[in-house]
Amino acid sequence: MNRPVDAVIEFLQSEQAHGISHVFLDNETRDGLRELYIRARKPIKLQPDIPREITAPQAAPQSAPQLIELIIEGEDKPAKLESVKRQAADWAPARVLGTLCETLVFATGNPDAKIMLIGEAPGYHEEREVQPFVGPAGQKLGEILHAMDLTREDIYISNLVKFRPATPKQTTNNRKPTSQEMAACLPLVMAEIEIIKPAVIIALGVTTAEGLLNLQGAVGNMRGKWHEVSGIPARVTYHPSYLLQSGSNEVKRALWEDMLAVMEKIGMPISERQRRFFLTKS
Ligand code: URA
Repeated sequence: MNRPVDAVIEFLQSEQAHGISHVFLDNETRDGLRELYIRARKPIKLQPDIPREITAPQAAPQSAPQLIELIIEGEDKPAKLESVKRQAADWAPARVLGTLCETLVFATGNPDAKIMLIGEAPGYHEEREVQPFVGPAGQKLGEILHAMDLTREDIYISNLVKFRPATPKQTTNNRKPTSQEMAACLPLVMAEIEIIKPAVIIALGVTTAEGLLNLQGAVGNMRGKWHEVSGIPARVTYHPSYLLQSGSNEVKRALWEDMLAVMEKIGMPISERQRRFFLTKS
């Protein structure tokens, strides 16, 4: 507990407790924290030969990681998902952080889906309805699915973090999950991926891309190509809430191109009209 980085973590936690969400970190500090984050992620990698046991560090990276086992039980996909959901409700690695709300918002959709969509964390609306993506971002997502000729029942929708990130005196305001919160919940979503075995994963937004794929930078540099999660092709694209804020035709078209790539990947028919969506008319 006497490393310089422990003092940084303590300082950040104290700032966060005072409602401060952004601080400047120099490169050395950032590298130190990143190193801890990467180390915290290591034990939770799925081992292809032992797919039923997934482990995670129990607490924040500054304490010695204790391994918590996640056991996937059940004969079929719904039963297996139910077993992960049961364990998620009381998932110690997330609970010990003390920074997340109480209500578990697990996932929704088709366990046999070819497409698995992963967002960052539930917000106010999702916590109230105990369903992912039911607020304004969820409505935008519904429009995107509709344009793809899909419904929520055709796909599987989940979040990296299963509890709404808490803020002091929180009302309807939401915040992005921290790296610690994402690392704590990562085994849960990895277990879902293991069970669903989708043909394609779509990571929504930069925060999800950081937590799920360990990517850094802007979505603009991550999108437009294939990545991989547990051997499954994964596409990073803009978060629907960014679309709501930005509204630019360029962002809409970029997201749509990612969706077209997903549709192509799983062999969905694509009409000429779909191909032309959001193209500027010349
Ligand atoms: N944003 C997310 O990333 N997930 C949700 O469930 C809702 C909004």
